[in-house]
Amino acid sequence: MRQCKNVVIAGAGLMGTSMAQIFAQLGYDVIIYDVIEAAIEKSKNLIRINQEEQVKTGELTFKESEELQGRLSHTCEKGCFTECDLVVESIIEKMEIKHLFWKEVSTLVPEDAVLASNTSGLSITEIAKVIHKPERFAGMHWFNPAHLIPLIEIIKGDESADETVDYLYDLSITIGKEPIRVNKDVPGFIANRIQLAILRESLYLVENNVGSFEDIDKCMKYALGFRYACLGPFEVCDMGGLDTFYHIAEYLNKDLSDAKEPQRILKELYEEGHYGVKAKAGFYDYSDGKDEEAIRRRDELYIKVSKLLK
Ligand SMILES: NC(=O)c1ccc[n+]([C@@H]2O[C@H](COP(=O)([O-])OP(=O)(O)OC[C@H]3O[C@@H](n4cnc5c(N)ncnc54)[C@H](O)[C@@H]3O)[C@@H](O)[C@H]2O)c1
Repeated sequence: MRQCKNVVIAGAGLMGTSMAQIFAQLGYDVIIYDVIEAAIEKSKNLIRINQEEQVKTGELTFKESEELQGRLSHTCEKGCFTECDLVVESIIEKMEIKHLFWKEVSTLVPEDAVLASNTSGLSITEIAKVIHKPERFAGMHWFNPAHLIPLIEIIKGDESADETVDYLYDLSITIGKEPIRVNKDVPGFIANRIQLAILRESLYLVENNVGSFEDIDKCMKYALGFRYACLGPFEVCDMGGLDTFYHIAEYLNKDLSDAKEPQRILKELYEEGHYGVKAKAGFYDYSDGKDEEAIRRRDELYIKVSKLLK
C-alpha cells in the first residue's frame, strides 16, 4: 500500500476539522473538502479557536501551531481527490449521502489510495457496496473531541482487506492515537455498544427512582469511570476476583434492564428538543453561559487525564 503523505478529510464539520488538525500536527499535508462554502468558513474559525487554545495551554508552541496551519487547506473542488493517499470521510451520517459521495470519489482517487469512513455506526459493509475496489475501504471511528480522546476504532467490513485494516491501525498509532480492531461490522461497533449498555441501565435506575441523574453521574465519575480511565472491565475483574464477579453475575444479570426501545425519559427529552449542551438543555440545564462553562470544564479535565495516562 502507498506511503501516506497527502490526506483528504471529507466533511469540514465538528469531527473532520478536529481530525484534520491532528494529521497536520504530525506533518501530513491535509486538505479539508466540503460541498458548502459556509461550512469551510466555520471550519477555518474552529481551527483558529482550537489553535489559540492549544498554544494557550502549552500543548503546542506558537511556531508549531503556525507550521501545522500551513499544512492545512480547504476546498470545495473535487480535484483534491486525484493525488491523495488517504481519504477519511466524515460527512453527514446518512447512508444515501455517504453512498453518493463514495460512488463518485472512489473512482477519482488513485487505485491504491486507502479509504475510510468516520461513521458513528452505519454499516461499513453497506457503505462499501458502492465503492470501486472496496477492499481498500474500512471504518475509522474517532471520538469527539477528536483532538483529545485517544481511541480510534478500526472496523473491518465484509470486503475490507486485512492490509487496509492494518494500514489504518498502524497509521492511528503514528498519529499518536490508541486504535482497537473491530473484527466484525456489528451495529455500534464496540464503544457505542458498551456506552449504550451503561446508558440503558442508568436510565432504568432513574426511571425506577433508585438514584438521581446527579448521583448516577457521580457513581460513574468517582468509582466506575475513575477505574475505567486506568483499567478495562476485564482488568478490573481480575483485580477484584473472578469468583466475586461470578457470584454477582449469578444473581444480578437477570435483574438488569434489557429494554429494547429508547427509554421514556430519553424519548421525552428528545421530543421536547432538549438535545443537551447544544440546545442549552438536556438532562441538565445549560442556559445563561452554563453551556460554555461545561465544555471548558470538560476539555480542562480531559487534557489533565490524557496527560496522566500518557
Ligand atoms: N459528532 C460526534 O460526536 C461524532 C463522533 C464520531 C463520529 N461522528 C461521525 O462523523 C461524521 C461527521 O459528523 P460531524 O459531527 O462532524 O457532523 P457535522 O454536521 O458537524 O459535519 C458534517 C459536514 O459534512 C459536510 N457534508 C455533507 N455532505 C457532504 C458531501 N457530500 N461531501 C462533503 N461534505 C459534505 C457538511 O457540509 C458538514 O460540514 C458523521 O458520520 C458522524 O456520525 C460524529
